[in-house]
Amino acid sequence: MRILGIETSCDETGIALYDGKSNRVIFEALYSQAEEHDLYGGVVPELAARDHINRLLPLLKKKLVENNLKMNAIEAIAFTKGPGLRGPLMVGAGFANALSFALEIPVIPIHHMEAHLIMAKFDAAGLDFPYISLLVSGGHTLIVKVISPNQYEVIGQTKDDAVGEAFDKTAKLLQLGYPGGPEIEKRANKSEGNKSLSFPRPMMNSDDLNFSFSGLKTAVLYKVKELSENEALSDSTINDIAFEFQNAAIECLVSKSLKACKREKSKALVLSGGVAANNFLRNELERHKGEINLFYPDQKYCTDNGLMIAYAGYQKLAEQSKDFEINVTPRWSLENV
Ligand code: KG4
Ligand code: ZN
Repeated sequence: MRILGIETSCDETGIALYDGKSNRVIFEALYSQAEEHDLYGGVVPELAARDHINRLLPLLKKKLVENNLKMNAIEAIAFTKGPGLRGPLMVGAGFANALSFALEIPVIPIHHMEAHLIMAKFDAAGLDFPYISLLVSGGHTLIVKVISPNQYEVIGQTKDDAVGEAFDKTAKLLQLGYPGGPEIEKRANKSEGNKSLSFPRPMMNSDDLNFSFSGLKTAVLYKVKELSENEALSDSTINDIAFEFQNAAIECLVSKSLKACKREKSKALVLSGGVAANNFLRNELERHKGEINLFYPDQKYCTDNGLMIAYAGYQKLAEQSKDFEINVTPRWSLENV
């Protein structure tokens, strides 16, 4: 079964044609609007929606032509139904349902965060239920107990900002580009550490599995104000702030993930979502290899992409819509998939 995945929940237009039977990616394409949104320091939903409309059809046509394929190569369509930005989601939903109607093939609505989570299984052997997943993106910071396919229990989450959002906002404060995560990581790698800088690790030692990142962001804001009172921040100070911010944020994620595995007596930890592309997070968790078995997708499949939607669609073929489902679900808990 060849499934076309369509991802438009935020600012990446992602498509992929995936053959579930042979576990083969036939083609994939990603158009990132990041440069456009960089001008505004974050995603502008209306612009994102307009751009998805402009990109989707040419992207699909180009890929079909390049691969010498016709539309009949597509046997089913999976699209992101939510959570995400309403306008951008509507574009993907309208496109997917129209194609499904024209080609008379099934259409499968997908939960974006579930697709991130499932993607960690793409080339992972030996991942058995139940397991724990740390799902970290621009909109979510979740610790999820995956009991069986489709059965999720959210056992920890952020009380305020998502960790990706904290990376993005910190990058903005430091006048680095958008998205902020990769920029912060690059700058942090240039720092040797500066002992005079220390940021809080909110809720790191709380008994629960929750997070809080807004205090950390505020601490960075005050530090930036203090250090730039008389002169602009030097490159090396920016690197040091990025380093210490990353240390603090990642320490919180690592500590609560390990706590979750221990509490739930799970050895398997799945890491996914955009922030899972962060090498420091991966390396810090790898250091606990004796306690846990770590699974994560290839770096390019951590951030939003079309393949994760196609791949999740294949796992969920049984859940195809009975009728066309153009409604989207901008807010959608994993517990209600
Ligand atoms: O999953 P994703 O592509 O989109 C959402 O579903 O939100 O995640 C995007 C988020 C952004 O906040 C971005 O800054 C963050 O993931 N991110 C990173 C890295 N790469 C992307 N955060 C930290 N380190 C990275 N290398
Ligand atoms: Zn995402």
